[in-house]
Amino acid sequence: MLLHPKAVPTGTILVADDQAPNRELLEELLTTQGFTVITASNGAEALDQLRQSSVDLVILDVMMPHMNGFEVCREIKANPDTYLIPVVLVTALSDKQDRIEGLRANADDFLTRPVDRVELLVRVQSLIKLKQRTDELERAESVLFALARSIEGKDPYTGGHCERLAEYSASLGQHLGLTDEQITALRRAGVVHDIGKIAVPDSIILKPASLTPEEWKLMREHPVVGERICAPLKSFRLVLPIIRHHHDKFDGSGYPDGLRGENIPVTARVLQIVDVYDALTTVRPYKPAFSITDALQTMKLEVAKGWWDAQIFDQFEQLVRTSTADFLARGAAAGGVGI
Ligand SMILES: [Fe+2]
Repeated sequence: MLLHPKAVPTGTILVADDQAPNRELLEELLTTQGFTVITASNGAEALDQLRQSSVDLVILDVMMPHMNGFEVCREIKANPDTYLIPVVLVTALSDKQDRIEGLRANADDFLTRPVDRVELLVRVQSLIKLKQRTDELERAESVLFALARSIEGKDPYTGGHCERLAEYSASLGQHLGLTDEQITALRRAGVVHDIGKIAVPDSIILKPASLTPEEWKLMREHPVVGERICAPLKSFRLVLPIIRHHHDKFDGSGYPDGLRGENIPVTARVLQIVDVYDALTTVRPYKPAFSITDALQTMKLEVAKGWWDAQIFDQFEQLVRTSTADFLARGAAAGGVGI
């Protein structure tokens, strides 16, 4: 009989154990509860299975030859394709040292041998539910990223702008010593910062001539519209201020809020510097791509005018000048937007 039949989630569980009787026991317990189970008899095979199948949860025996459960767990958690999959380690009864090492390997939960049937199912169900919520969140993010890229795709001059911005701003954020959370937000904002342009007619976005005051008014709404589009996503909490303020200027002359100086979030000040740099070093309908030197010179003049954060610009210039030749120069072959 199923435990709590209404609440039982489905999913695929990978069980890795070098002892066949242990694998079979877990497989039987889990399949009778409606899960699909795949098995591996060692660590390398488990990692292979993860590459080939879509797995919702991994149960790893700690004591396996060649590659033990901790090592497999570390690999799973270090790989961007698999790190969100929950991992349960099966350890000897009350082995404290194993648990400490398991936590260091970023395991999500532990089971002790002999495995208690009820405990196993409760833990598995709760972790699978968590994984399904994470999947939903990932799908929502993917929709936003796809929308942002489709807006970018409308303009022949913008090829690769979002990806470059995500990469550049994360590099500058790292160089400035920002937190991992802020750097993740910068990567996301690099892709979605102009998503609000969905509300701006193509005739304005693609207009080769100067915009009329009325058209400018519409264009200047894109940061606020973008913030509104992304607001429901809790994981975008730190991305929202970057979207909203990426056109505010250090001297208060920007939009939408006319914020000044350090009132503009540091992440937005980082993104706007790489946004401007990318626009300058790429071809536009009204100008060729600037060389790196000319782009930096132009930006220096804009810093002197009070537009950009001088300290962040200095760090950015240092990063550009000390980076490998292709870094931040690749964009020169493609287009970019800095409106
Ligand atoms: Fe923008």
